Amino acid sequence: MSEHITVSQDGAVLRVGFNRPEKKNAITTDMYAGLADALQSAQDDNTVRAVMFEAQGDMFTSGNDIGDFMAGMSGLADPHEPPPVMRFLLGLASAEKPLLAAVQGGAVGVGVTMLLHCDLVYASDKATFHTPFVDLGLAPEAASSLLLPRIAGHQRAAEMLMAGRKISAARAYEFGFVNDVVSPEALAETALAAARNLAARAPTAIRATKQLMRPDREAIIAHMKQESIQFAALLKSPEFREAGAAFMQKRKPDFSNLG
Ligand code: COA
Repeated sequence: MSEHITVSQDGAVLRVGFNRPEKKNAITTDMYAGLADALQSAQDDNTVRAVMFEAQGDMFTSGNDIGDFMAGMSGLADPHEPPPVMRFLLGLASAEKPLLAAVQGGAVGVGVTMLLHCDLVYASDKATFHTPFVDLGLAPEAASSLLLPRIAGHQRAAEMLMAGRKISAARAYEFGFVNDVVSPEALAETALAAARNLAARAPTAIRATKQLMRPDREAIIAHMKQESIQFAALLKSPEFREAGAAFMQKRKPDFSNLG
């Protein structure tokens, strides 16, 4: 288990936390493995009835570790042995128990797209939501190119996925992927109360309800796999190389001679 992922059981709620605040909770391969294992253990353990994601520090997560992206994220589109990131994303999409999130600060990339698989999402008024895939020469993942337009509408999804606009918690609430915006002090207790409430409800009925609310789960997973093929190809593109180098050199990328 990665030291940067915390997992603890609070009654029937499994709390899963990002804990790499010095790197803004950027998610490494090891962390994805820890997240995927936590989701699997929640699925297998009868005493767990809901999972709640949370984070330490001032950001929820700054998304995938860009150093790992630059190292290639090998096997991303391998259907036989999915790498940890895919195991985590598939775990989210196929989770049978309720998933919740408490977003206390900035959420970037997969920090946003994972929320589209949660059943209840709470945000502090300090939270922001940013999906800068195109800024990095990449394309959306985690089925966000399907789920975000479905939740928010095409034009609002384009604002995030195509224009790369960072939005506030209030705007995320308007977009429909945040249930409630509360003060930073009230966030953990609000989300935990909601998780405890779902965890106390009739478990088979909750699972049946969740399943019925996602009748196209297989289509969502197929879309996610399609995205990962595109994503793996873009990770090898000159546009991504330029964007990754620009991030490391703390400068703006220059795409003017590419494409
Ligand atoms: N991958 C790897 N390292 C990351 C990271 C990421 N996604 N996000 C932050 N870090 C690292 C920084 O490189 C920095 O490391 P250093 O202290 O060794 O220089 C440290 O975390 C602190 O980040 P910093 O950029 O100094 O903080 P900030 O408050 O000025 O900015 C962000 C925070 C999130 C706006 C900025 O770090 C950022 O844009 N990160 C990349 C986000 C991203 O594009 N993610 C991929 C989405 S698909």
